[in-house]
Amino acid sequence: MRICVIGTGYVGLVTGTCLADLGNQVICVDNNQEKINMLKKGKMPIYEPGLAELVVKNTKEKRLEFTTKIKEGVEQSQIIFISVNTPPKEDGEADLSFVETVTAEIAVHMREYKIIVEKSTVPVETGEKIMQTIKLYNTHKTGFDVVSNPEFLREGSAIKDTMHPDRIVLGVSSKRAEKIMRELYRPLKAPIIVTDIKSSEIIKHASNSFLAMKISFANAVANICDRVGADVEKVAEGMGYDKRIGREFLNAGVGFGGSCFPKDLAAFIYIAKKSGYDFELLRAVQKINEQQKKLLLQKIEESLWVLKNKTIGVLGLAFKPETDDLRFAPAIDIIKSLQAEGAKIKAYDPIAMSKARKVLPGVKYGQNAYEVAKGSDLLVIVTDWNEFKELDLGRIKKLLKTPIIVDGRNIYDPAKMKKLGFIYKSIGRK
Ligand code: NAD
Ligand code: UGA
Repeated sequence: MRICVIGTGYVGLVTGTCLADLGNQVICVDNNQEKINMLKKGKMPIYEPGLAELVVKNTKEKRLEFTTKIKEGVEQSQIIFISVNTPPKEDGEADLSFVETVTAEIAVHMREYKIIVEKSTVPVETGEKIMQTIKLYNTHKTGFDVVSNPEFLREGSAIKDTMHPDRIVLGVSSKRAEKIMRELYRPLKAPIIVTDIKSSEIIKHASNSFLAMKISFANAVANICDRVGADVEKVAEGMGYDKRIGREFLNAGVGFGGSCFPKDLAAFIYIAKKSGYDFELLRAVQKINEQQKKLLLQKIEESLWVLKNKTIGVLGLAFKPETDDLRFAPAIDIIKSLQAEGAKIKAYDPIAMSKARKVLPGVKYGQNAYEVAKGSDLLVIVTDWNEFKELDLGRIKKLLKTPIIVDGRNIYDPAKMKKLGFIYKSIGRK
């Protein structure tokens, strides 16, 4: 099939590349000239495991191309995916200006029947707005359908998630569009849930909010464990064996970050409020998440008392492992709060440091964890990269000025840390 993907970010680039790899003819569009120039040269604007190889392969085999021109993409394709960013406004409402701009431009260039797919995460009723906008600018009065097809990939495992999804959701308003979209996704052999457009839009916000709720629940339980001397890891394990609960997303820590959970939670709360419903439960999820970042600071202050002129080594900056994404990363808030207290920050992240330099000034970046530990008063773990789990802790202890580790991701065994002579503080574990 002939596909156009507009917005070549984490979602658009992965979607376009995977669809090309399945044998479709794909053209990816972005208005960021620099990104398109890089992609044309086979260079990746983002870090995502396995992506570069797949982009290069499909470009070479002439199934994947890149352009800055929406006109080119629309003319060449039957299915047009909108995967531009939908950032949060101050009050939590999703900013849909990029979606609107792109929709209007698609409409202007339509000369035959097209399917316009809402891939970006958008509030319920956006499908109707897209239809209305297309009608407004569709001067050639061509036929079209709008489909809601929310994306559930995770950064760091985006290719695997796209090629082996748990489910594919299609919100449709015509049999014609349903048939074409089913055909497109047939090679993935995944369960396909077909629904109306509004329900599909809500499925996305409800899914992300539910996952965020699981994390905040685990963090709330961790706080009780901290107070009474229980172990949240064991509690999560004991709960997780119940198939109705599941072990995933019950990891207590510094709280969730990233470009999606905080934004989508805020957007869902906003949508609910607009519809006349106060989603109190989700407001509590947000509150717990904010408290969790402060908890890490409290643990650092408890350990060092005065932070002014102390050197804190920070391991991990990205909002999760296997990505360079720093959007709403807990590390940003934590580092800024420590700096506000007068602490000096040394930091290391395996992938995210070049992006971090732009958003976190005044930080001294090390080449590895050992360089960061050297001479630091305390080491704090913010992202659970595998390489931190495998550190030579004996060496780390010798390098630290005082052997204190505050672990925001529970990656070490408390008993082992005690034996090694560390003052070790983690989340919800004595
Ligand atoms: P992103 O910021 O990485 O990419 C968006 C891209 O759209 C950028 O490259 C930007 O230059 C481009 N763009 C913006 N306006 C444009 C225009 N007028 N014309 C052409 N290109 C334009 O964003 P992302 O992380 O890929 O997220 C995209 C959407 O998908 C969001 O709604 C997000 O909530 C949703 N989503 C993201 C993920 C994820 O893991 N990142 C997962 C599922 C859903
Ligand atoms: C999340 C969802 O998992 C995807 O299904 C969804 O498509 C995506 O948002 C989106 O809509 O953009 P992502 O943000 O890439 O994916 O990463 P997750 O693995 O979900 O982690 C999100 C945050 O929660 C990270 O900061 C992570 O460290 C934290 N987390 C996750 C925990 O603190 N505990 C857990 O048990 C799991």
